[in-house]
Amino acid sequence: MNAGVLGIGRYIPEKIVTNFDLEKIMDTSDEWIRTRTGIEQRRIAADHEDTSDLAYHAAVNALDNAGIAAEEIDMIIVATVTPDQPFPTVSCMLQERLGAKKASAFDVSAACAGFMYGMITAKQFIETKAYKHILVVGVEKLSKVTDWKDRNTAVLFGDGAGAVVMGPVSEGRGILSFELGSDGTGGKYLYQNEHDHIVMNGREVFKFAVRQMGESAVNVLDKAGLSKEDVDFLIPHQANIRIMEAARQRLDLPEEKMSKTIQYYGNTSAASIPLSIVHEIEQGKIKDDDLLVMVGFGGGLTWGAIAIRWGK
Ligand code: UT7
Repeated sequence: MNAGVLGIGRYIPEKIVTNFDLEKIMDTSDEWIRTRTGIEQRRIAADHEDTSDLAYHAAVNALDNAGIAAEEIDMIIVATVTPDQPFPTVSCMLQERLGAKKASAFDVSAACAGFMYGMITAKQFIETKAYKHILVVGVEKLSKVTDWKDRNTAVLFGDGAGAVVMGPVSEGRGILSFELGSDGTGGKYLYQNEHDHIVMNGREVFKFAVRQMGESAVNVLDKAGLSKEDVDFLIPHQANIRIMEAARQRLDLPEEKMSKTIQYYGNTSAASIPLSIVHEIEQGKIKDDDLLVMVGFGGGLTWGAIAIRWGK
């Protein structure tokens, strides 16, 4: 029996900030941002919306989509590096607000790979039959840790949330293989400083990401005994179109088989993979029985990939 996705949901804040809006407040240009990153706009949460609010709306959406009541959830895992506060965790806040009375709850901190870490953790509890239904949320309010005076990072990030309800799925479907990894020696390339701002050595993270995304994608296919030709859709973490393209080329996939939502949302860290999946489902591009390869990387450094046969 494999663990898989029973339902998926998302929440994106209303406010859109375009590259042209950023041109007015810092020394940058739409042309630079678009050509160097692929980003055209990002969503920014309202002052009154914190991370737990974004997570709550995405979670309600995912529960609805799964047709599962909050009381049936056994565990809540929230992947985020921008919690409302260190504790109580976003997952505990969510447990109370959803009324998920029997759920245990904890947050996972693995930056942009957080959603992969959350899903793979959930898979273990489900496949050992310890728990049946697990809510996994990837959520960030990166705008609150963005240094709006640093054009190297401020143009990249956005806010949002994606969530899945995981549980046992039918024969042949669900998570077929995974890979997780970390390399603390690269922690110095992407971190939160004493002012709580994101600091990044873009070039170093870029080099790591290009190498790791392709490698992890190939590794999960190998582990599942599948080949590149079997892949229906690649869902890369949406950090930079050039990094995503490198991963796509490593799998020899045509353009239409890679999810690209960075132009709408920017880099939403732990939320980017589920946001992309919901987008592709809405476009009619992801269907039951499709083989998806999801791959994320981020600060830590961390990475994670999953090969999953979509559907219940
Ligand atoms: O999700 C987690 C992880 N983060 C990432 O995956 C980010 C990985 N890295 C990247 O995506 C890219 O390295 C960046 C998009 C951050 C930067 O692109 P780049 O092609 O590596 O540019 P660069 O850092 O080499 O900078 C090139 C030039 C510099 O000017 P000089 O020194 O050549 O005169 C920068 O000062 O571009 C300048 N620059 C900008 N210009 C206009 C940097 N940021 C901006 C900006 N607007 N926002």
